[in-house]
Amino acid sequence: MKRNTEFVCSNCGYSSSKWLGKCPSCGQFNTFYEEEIIEKKEVSSYRKFEESKISSLTDIEINKEQRLITGIEEFDRVLGGGIVKGSLILMGGEPGAGKSTLALTVAGKIAKNDKKVLYISAEESDAQIKLRADRLDINSKNLFLIIETGVEKIVNIIEKENPELVIIDSIQTVYKETIDSYAGSVNQVRESCAQILYTAKRLNIPILIIGHITKEGMIAGPKILEHMVDAVLYFEAEKYYQFKILRSVKNRFGSVNEIGIFEMTSSGLLEIKSPSKIFLDNLQKEKAGSGIVTVMEGTRPLLLEIQALTSRRNFGVPQRTVIGVDYNRFLIIIAILERKLNLHLENQDVFVNVSGGIRIFETAADLGIAAAIYSSFKNIKIPTNLIFIGELGLDGEIRPVNFMEARISEAEKLGFERCVIPERVKTGNTKLDIIKIKNIIDILNIIKKGGE
Ligand code: TYD
Ligand code: MG
Repeated sequence: MKRNTEFVCSNCGYSSSKWLGKCPSCGQFNTFYEEEIIEKKEVSSYRKFEESKISSLTDIEINKEQRLITGIEEFDRVLGGGIVKGSLILMGGEPGAGKSTLALTVAGKIAKNDKKVLYISAEESDAQIKLRADRLDINSKNLFLIIETGVEKIVNIIEKENPELVIIDSIQTVYKETIDSYAGSVNQVRESCAQILYTAKRLNIPILIIGHITKEGMIAGPKILEHMVDAVLYFEAEKYYQFKILRSVKNRFGSVNEIGIFEMTSSGLLEIKSPSKIFLDNLQKEKAGSGIVTVMEGTRPLLLEIQALTSRRNFGVPQRTVIGVDYNRFLIIIAILERKLNLHLENQDVFVNVSGGIRIFETAADLGIAAAIYSSFKNIKIPTNLIFIGELGLDGEIRPVNFMEARISEAEKLGFERCVIPERVKTGNTKLDIIKIKNIIDILNIIKKGGE
């Protein structure tokens, strides 16, 4: 009998003639399952045959891209300044992350500006959405709800209604009738998305599609769609446990790695415009075992407090415990402090924690971590109007880091007064008192002075 099925990775769409335990393309385990092979002819049937247009590069006129501004600053910034007309945006996230809430909020804002918005739900009833809208205080005549799962019908509605924005919640629950596999399978998700993409481009209408990420194999992951769409946003709920982070990982119309920070409240998502302020709330004037550092989230600097505690251990192997900082970097910093500053940490338990439950992946925080450990061990108070920026080399040298001007200007905005930075870096115009240091040894003077 002729084989007409293949095995497809639900994470990335890789296909193989036999079942595989590990996907050779994306490295995920247990993601393969069997699916009908779809005929190529059928796939592209929705594209009408047209002759390709050929244009010389010099003849192409650029219209400045038009954008829909939602007024939700955190959302607009992540997209590079609003929703570009005719773009297809994918918003992924785990169930319960707040995708539908954010999408409905966006729809409400656009509809309020007298623009027609279609909110197409393929997984909730209109009553459910109405309930959510009531909670979010959205009530607009221009916002239309459609409960529909067939992608052909969805395209027809979009064509007929000609709205200014379309939201489809979610891509895993829509399906194309001509394809003989269930909604959520790789083929369905890929083909439905292709048709939606074609519609967005043809009609120049921006479409926001929502995609669930689950680790179970049977639901096709939004990874398959990443290369098709213009922008990919992920809604993360875990990394910063008190906040929800909207992150852009692909954007054809703006910079990636921008983040928007929200908090889920009983009446919807609240924008957090100045996160550093929250992380540094209730900071005492001076403190032992504390160092303020900056980390970059996209193009935005965040100021965080590193807390360190050392305590003497009389027997047994001393503990090294960190939360939010890379463990190996922390061990390197301890070794540098021991060797270069002659700090006797060999009989000390050392704990390091980052405020707000944030994880730091940057070396720019090295100097602040070292300062916090040193000040805890020596029990010298560091004034909290001081911030530390710099990477530590193994020889104790302080190395420059990127985005120096942005980091310093954020510190200035938040009322910091002094800033310890590596030598030979540009600081731009700043009112801060800049202290340039070459080596970790120089930090002794600063911390001592601070404690006076
Ligand atoms: P939801 O947007 O439905 O998540 P997703 O579409 O990503 O699956 O909602 C996420 C959670 O937020 C849900 O558990 C209910 C809660 N929630 C609030 O706390 N306040 C609100 O105003 C709303 C609308 C939801
Ligand atoms: Mg939802």
